[in-house]
Amino acid sequence: MKIGGVAYRTIWPAQDGWRVTVIDQTRLPFRFETRTLETAAQAAQAITTMIVRGAPLIGATAAYGVALAMREDASDAGLEGALALLAATRPTAVNLHWALARMRARLALLKPRARAQAAYAEAALICDEDVALCRAIGGHGLAPIREIAAGKRAGEPVNILTHCNAGWLATVDWGTALAPIYLAHDAGVPVHVWVDETRPRNQGAALTAYELGAHGVPHTVIADNAGGHLMQHGQVDMVIVGTDRTTATGDVANKIGTYLKALAAHDNGVPFYVALPSPTIDWRLSDGLKQIPIEERPAREVTHLQGLGADGEVATFRIVAPGSDAANPAFDVTPARLVTGLITERGVAPASRAGLATLFPELARGEAA
Ligand code: MRU
Repeated sequence: MKIGGVAYRTIWPAQDGWRVTVIDQTRLPFRFETRTLETAAQAAQAITTMIVRGAPLIGATAAYGVALAMREDASDAGLEGALALLAATRPTAVNLHWALARMRARLALLKPRARAQAAYAEAALICDEDVALCRAIGGHGLAPIREIAAGKRAGEPVNILTHCNAGWLATVDWGTALAPIYLAHDAGVPVHVWVDETRPRNQGAALTAYELGAHGVPHTVIADNAGGHLMQHGQVDMVIVGTDRTTATGDVANKIGTYLKALAAHDNGVPFYVALPSPTIDWRLSDGLKQIPIEERPAREVTHLQGLGADGEVATFRIVAPGSDAANPAFDVTPARLVTGLITERGVAPASRAGLATLFPELARGEAA
């Protein structure tokens, strides 16, 4: 994606060939700043503090975190220590564990002296593959958008609601939920995006609006509670969201509030799509509600808001009555029955075991891709 005419990925090796550069997403949309990671501990901290976030990007950063660790200590103990450190950063996105398992499989049998180079190469491969997967998701997600556009008057936009940020900032490039939207826009299909602000951290207002704006896609930010009303009044043609973990049966964990949008979509006959690359599928799980770990984040994210002050400085404000407790579950689970389709790199599948197994037979059987 381009920012100010310059093509960026969200993570890339620094010029020195060993450090790793990321876009600091805690500073967006007001400041475009990068950070350079030098150690596995810094990579872990970047994930925990959400300098980087979004399931695929969390996985990519963890992979580079292992590479950084192998420069520090490539022994077996060093490898296992780095894997454990990075695995403990955020619990819900399964891409993190997928990437770490892949790094372990690549490195464990190598001699320690060969590990650093192999780790950098594997991390780079994971990033390149993520870009390809997301681009393919975009191609498959374009079809339902085109279908809806075909039923509209010429020039009338397809109104798509999205929640959180599942765009290029959440991946290495392109995004998942936003990839079909970018491709539709680039192909001249008129689209307009309703962007849920996505309290408490406002990934929609801060990140999705930022990247859609940078790409020139028409969009409108709405309060999280507005979606149901817009659907009742025929102002939403479809919903597309991302996911942090999808079970083998098609239950979908995504940013808190996604479930409410799925309920409203179901009640109003609005198609509800979830876009995901295959590393987001947890083939071991069959019941999302019972089995997907839901991250509980600090109460301060609910009690305080970050914004741009009149003086042009970024400031944090308390918005909750002093003394009140706040709870902050960061994700919820949308049952498969509320999902119209899963948009993957191999096509659009029904949200069911059979649907996913048809597209990914080797993964459903437990074989490596
Ligand atoms: O807490 P975040 O910002 O990491 O949550 C991100 C989401 O919920 C995204 O929708 C999900 O990771 C899919 S990203 C392609």
